[in-house]
Amino acid sequence: MCQLKVLFLFLTIAAAGVVCSGGVTSSFVRKSQPSVCMPLNTFPPPSGDNAPEQYDTLYNYELGTGDAARQFCFTTAPKAGPDVPYTFGDLGQTYDSNQTFEHYFSNPEGQAMLFVGDLCYADAHLYHDNNRWDAWGRFVEKSTAYQPWIWTAGNHEIDFAPEIGEIVPFKPFMHRYHVPYKASKSTSPLWYSIKRASAYIIVLSSYSAYGKYTPQYNWLEQELPKVNRAETPWLIVLLHSPWYNSNGYHYMEGESMRVMFESWFVEHKVDIVFAGHVHSYERTKRFSNVKYNITNGLSTPVKDPSAPVYVTIGDGGNLEGLANNFSDPQPSYSAFREASYGHGMLRIKNRTHAHFTWHRNHDNEPVVADSVWLSNRHWYPEEEQN
Ligand SMILES: *[C@@H]1O[C@H](CO)[C@@H](O)[C@H](O)[C@H]1NC(C)=O
Ligand SMILES: *[C@@H]1O[C@H](CO)[C@@H](O)[C@H](O)[C@H]1NC(C)=O
Ligand SMILES: *[C@@H]1O[C@H](CO)[C@@H](O)[C@H](O)[C@H]1NC(C)=O
Ligand SMILES: *[C@@H]1O[C@H](CO)[C@@H](O)[C@H](O)[C@H]1NC(C)=O
Repeated sequence: MCQLKVLFLFLTIAAAGVVCSGGVTSSFVRKSQPSVCMPLNTFPPPSGDNAPEQYDTLYNYELGTGDAARQFCFTTAPKAGPDVPYTFGDLGQTYDSNQTFEHYFSNPEGQAMLFVGDLCYADAHLYHDNNRWDAWGRFVEKSTAYQPWIWTAGNHEIDFAPEIGEIVPFKPFMHRYHVPYKASKSTSPLWYSIKRASAYIIVLSSYSAYGKYTPQYNWLEQELPKVNRAETPWLIVLLHSPWYNSNGYHYMEGESMRVMFESWFVEHKVDIVFAGHVHSYERTKRFSNVKYNITNGLSTPVKDPSAPVYVTIGDGGNLEGLANNFSDPQPSYSAFREASYGHGMLRIKNRTHAHFTWHRNHDNEPVVADSVWLSNRHWYPEEEQN
């Protein structure tokens, strides 16, 4: 300030001595060196609950303004680690399945939802009525606004309708349900992975190309070796169309994908595979079918301690009815099956033990219709009971 005053005085004197028609040429020279960046720590990240990458932290948030403003909250995941306990809900289709959803919702244990595809069935309505997507969003909001749902695309998400000019598969699904696929170097939201507590979850797309050299094939080939079982002991895969399904409905629809990927699942000791699609419940024993090579005739599923347990949980409820058409006799790989609506709960206790239960809608939520203690394939590859 002081410097400026002196300068102003000097200019006034100079102007008085010389007569000219022009204006004033200031002799002030701004410092000529380039300015230096402020150090990064001038703006440190906020402390406490407002910082990104906080674990186990409750966030409150508000959507909308004025009369439309509504408050919600969610808790971020615990830091990943081998013995971090965590409980997942497992749900298939929920169209018209208020009861399934209410049962899951009534159990406060669930911290995140593994959802195996087929959301609102808009494709069953005239012009794939997108109001169905809105209504379904409102239906599940009391859970999805508060805890993460890990989304898998089902056949009802394809929404391919050239008769009305809709030729981009999965368009409404991908616009409405965003997933963090880039974090796992995936090039598509239809296949990706996430870490949560002691679980590493890989989501696959039954309805995107998975043959050799396709993007999904290449991604999965590189993804499986990345799983660090010392950090996340539990390796879980979600996909829509089941590989082991002894129901007449959708029988063998998952077969071509099984042929491509099953040997990788065995090699990398996947613990559990959840699928949907078939409107019933089925749980397998640890079986694999990876020996067949076109000429050797070895096409029968065999007991395999390195194989995953396959759970078909497509029984959330839907407008197509239950799939009550199991093959007879029950194949040896099938441990338990029932054509009822219901949901599952997966309680990971530590690096060795997880407890899975299935709850049919017909009973009250606490009633367990099927259950199994799962032993981790990496840390404790013991044979499970039942
Ligand atoms: C869904 O179930 C809840 C709890 O039983 C009930 O209050 C609600 O009315 C049901 N909604 C519909 C549309 O049936
Ligand atoms: C029931 O499954 C059998 C094969 O297991 C099949 O031949 C039959 O068509 C199925 N029925 C229905 C209604 O899907
Ligand atoms: C298939 O398996 C049989 C029996 O093990 C073996 O003799 C044959 O070489 C295999 N064929 C191929 C193409 O690997
Ligand atoms: C892991 O959990 C199971 C089931 O709760 C328990 O029996 C076992 O002792 C636990 N292991 C360790 C090392 O805490």
